[in-house]
Amino acid sequence: MKPTLEAFLKDVLDGLSARPRTLPCKYLYDAKGSALFEEICQTEDYYVTRADLALHESHIGEFSAIVGPGAHIIEFGSGAGIKTRKLLAGLEQPRAYTPIEISVAALAESARELETAFPEIEICPLRADYTRPIDAESLRLEPPASRRVVYFPGSTISNFEHDEARAFLERMRFIAGPDGGILIGVDLLKPADRLLRAYDDAEGVTARFNLNLLERLANELGAELESDSFVHEARFNTDFNRIEMHLVARRPTRISLGGQHFDFAAGDSIHTENSHKYSVRDFRELAATAGLESLRVWKDPQGLFSMHWLQSSQPQGAGGASTGVLRSKST
Ligand code: AVI
Repeated sequence: MKPTLEAFLKDVLDGLSARPRTLPCKYLYDAKGSALFEEICQTEDYYVTRADLALHESHIGEFSAIVGPGAHIIEFGSGAGIKTRKLLAGLEQPRAYTPIEISVAALAESARELETAFPEIEICPLRADYTRPIDAESLRLEPPASRRVVYFPGSTISNFEHDEARAFLERMRFIAGPDGGILIGVDLLKPADRLLRAYDDAEGVTARFNLNLLERLANELGAELESDSFVHEARFNTDFNRIEMHLVARRPTRISLGGQHFDFAAGDSIHTENSHKYSVRDFRELAATAGLESLRVWKDPQGLFSMHWLQSSQPQGAGGASTGVLRSKST
């Protein structure tokens, strides 16, 4: 069995044995899941992508003023999207651009396209899993630039638990350095009915996205299951201000996998994803725990989505390697 498949199997067996039952949300994004996510972004009910784009359109001049000329932009993600182009086109003579992405194909394609679209910007792609510490040797912080700016639109930070989000923000702080900054998208807390619609859209795309996980269990791991025994459900958890996606058994059913049997009564669920929603104040507080100060916040014209400009609140020389957030290959 390929190591990735072995890890997938282990994560699924661990997740189904745990209470509550969970599956890591990263497994939602195989090729089919990623295509379905793109489709979600086009649905009427999922406001996040449109709001993020509208925010970029309204405030690009202010982003440019705060970032300043000659910056090195480091994006967590492939940079294939329209927002990256808007940003690079709107900034004042950016010096370089580094997309950080795990998929070689996505990275190569976006680098090729951006090199053609922006011949004057040095494109320095880096293949890495940005959800994990990036080793110091492979992270090229060259070429010299006026400042480094980490760019992370789209509110993927919402999908992390608070501890993970804090660690992630600390890594960004290290990469940006004491004089750099972070431009990060954060979806805003709003009434539950609006959120529930966004994560259980009327076209049923989010349901297919979630149920695709069961197809992966069957197709890739050889699980025996009745996929029509489960339905997609979005829940708003008021204790944690988060949307949760669940796969809920609608009748008693069983998943058999790796010689083990997992029995479900009607109503039992597998928790597959969290999407945390933040007020501006909540996110400021989270950023502060990672040694970052939110110096500027923008919202889209409808006030659905926010973008924060964060800078290190630590004195020069503090943070970085001493915090252990970046791992060098030799350690
Ligand atoms: C990728 N991420 C920001 C999406 C979100 O809104 O949390 C993932 C998603 N899951 C269901 N719909 C969208």
